Amino acid sequence: MSAILSPPPSIETLYPFRRSPESQAGIPAKIAGKIPDWLRGEVVRTCPAVFETGGWRAQHWFDGLGMIYAFRVGDSGVDFRSRLLDSETARDAWRGEANLGSFGTPTVRPFLRRIFEPVPRVSDNTNVNIVRLGSELVAMTEGNRQLVIDDATLAATQPVRYSKGPLSGAIMSAHPHFDFERGKVLNVATAFGVNGVISIYEHSPAERQRKVVGSWRTKRVPYIHTFGLTPRHAILIAQPFSVAPVKMLWSSKGYIDHFDWQPQEGTRLVVIDRSNGAVREHVTDAFFFFHTVNAFEREDATVLDLLAYPNADIMASLRTDRMRADLPELRPSLMRVVMRPGVERATIEKLSDVGFEFPSTHYKRVSGRPYRFAYGASDGHRAGGAYASEIVKVDIQTGTSKSFGDDALIFGEPLFVSRPQGDDEDDGVLVSVGSAKNSETSVLAVIDAKSMALLASAEVPNSIPLGFHGSFVRAS
Ligand SMILES: [Fe+2]
Repeated sequence: MSAILSPPPSIETLYPFRRSPESQAGIPAKIAGKIPDWLRGEVVRTCPAVFETGGWRAQHWFDGLGMIYAFRVGDSGVDFRSRLLDSETARDAWRGEANLGSFGTPTVRPFLRRIFEPVPRVSDNTNVNIVRLGSELVAMTEGNRQLVIDDATLAATQPVRYSKGPLSGAIMSAHPHFDFERGKVLNVATAFGVNGVISIYEHSPAERQRKVVGSWRTKRVPYIHTFGLTPRHAILIAQPFSVAPVKMLWSSKGYIDHFDWQPQEGTRLVVIDRSNGAVREHVTDAFFFFHTVNAFEREDATVLDLLAYPNADIMASLRTDRMRADLPELRPSLMRVVMRPGVERATIEKLSDVGFEFPSTHYKRVSGRPYRFAYGASDGHRAGGAYASEIVKVDIQTGTSKSFGDDALIFGEPLFVSRPQGDDEDDGVLVSVGSAKNSETSVLAVIDAKSMALLASAEVPNSIPLGFHGSFVRAS
C-alpha cells in the first residue's frame, strides 16, 4: 500500500538529468583524439540540477535548482569542476519552503503574506545562462536578479547591482545580445502593472546603469525568452502565449501557468528603432518559440530567423511529471520572418527540414548580419521510439545540413568557438556537453564546425544534467 502512495521517483533518476555530488573541483578528463592547440579557455555553463530536496519538488524543468560547472581546456589537458548554486531559492528549497515565485512550481506562502504581497518576489535560481559582462561572470534566469559567479570557485557571490531606475524590479531575459561595434550589452525587460511594459535596454559591459532604448505597452504580456537585434532595430516577438497581468494577483501558481495559448491573435512583431525608440508592428501566423537564431537588415525589410513550434504544447511537455513519462521533442523548425516597412503582414517561411534547439552561430562575426550557418542540438525520438541526440549544422544558403551524433550521449547546446586567424564563417569548432545514457559519465565533445567530425572528447566521471546555455571564455 505504501508503495502505491509513494510519490514517483524524481527525474534525477532519468539519464539526461542525473547529477554527481555537488562541489567538485580538479577532476581530470580522459581525452580521446586531439584538441586543437588554439582552443584554450573555459566552457562555463549553468543548468537545472536538483529537482527534489525532501520537502520540495520542482514541477517544471526550468525550476530545477541551478548548478554551475566548467571544463577548463589548457596545455596540460582538461579538468572539470562544479558547484550547486547558492541562491535564496535554493536555501528555501533545502528547508522545504517555496516562498519565491518560480517558473512552473507553485509558491507556498502563509495566507496573510499572500494578502499583503499579492505577487511573490521572483526566484533568483539562475539556471538558464551564464555570460561574461565586463569583469563579471553573470548567471541569469528570467527574473529581476542575476548572480555574480566567482571565476575560481564558481560560487555565487552577490546579485548584479544595477542602478535604480525605471527598470528596477523588471524581469530580464537570460539572453542578452552584444553589440560589439558600439560596445553595448542589450537585453529585454518586462515590467508588470495593470498592463505590461516591455523595454529594450542597454549598457556597456562594464557598467550597471541601464538605459532604455525603447518600450512597448501591451494589455496581454507575451512569454519572452529572447529577442532579435540588428544594427538598426531590436525586435520583440509577441507570441500568442500570453497573460493579462491582473491574473497573477493573489495566485500561488507558477509564473508560466497563468499564460494562455491564443492562436487567433497571431504573432505580433514589434520592431523598435534603436536610434529613437520608434515602434512599428507587424503580424504573422501564430507560433511558439524560445530562441531567435539571428536577425539582419535587407534593403527592403528586416529579417528574423528563429526556431518555431506550431503551438505552446512544448511548455507543458517540459513539466517534470511529463518528462518522467517521456523525454521532450526538442526539434522546432528554423523559420524566417520577413518584415517590410509599411506592410503589416510579415511573411514566414521554413528554411530547413532539420529541427533543432539551443541555436548557435559564429556570433561575433554574424550577429545582426546576413549569415550562412546555424548550429544546434536536435534531441528527440527516432522512428522506432529510441531517444536520440545529434549536433547539427544547417547551411541556410543551400538548405543542406550535416550532423554529428553518438548513440550513447544526449547533447545540449553547441557553442561555436572561432579559430583565431580563421577566414571562413565556419572556421572553428563546436564544443558541446553530452550526458551518457548508460553510465555516470559526461563528455565535452570538440567538433570541427566545417566537417562536423569529432576532433576530441574529454570524458569525466560525472553525470552532468542536460541544461540550457553557457559561454566559452577564452584564455587571455
Ligand atoms: Fe534559452
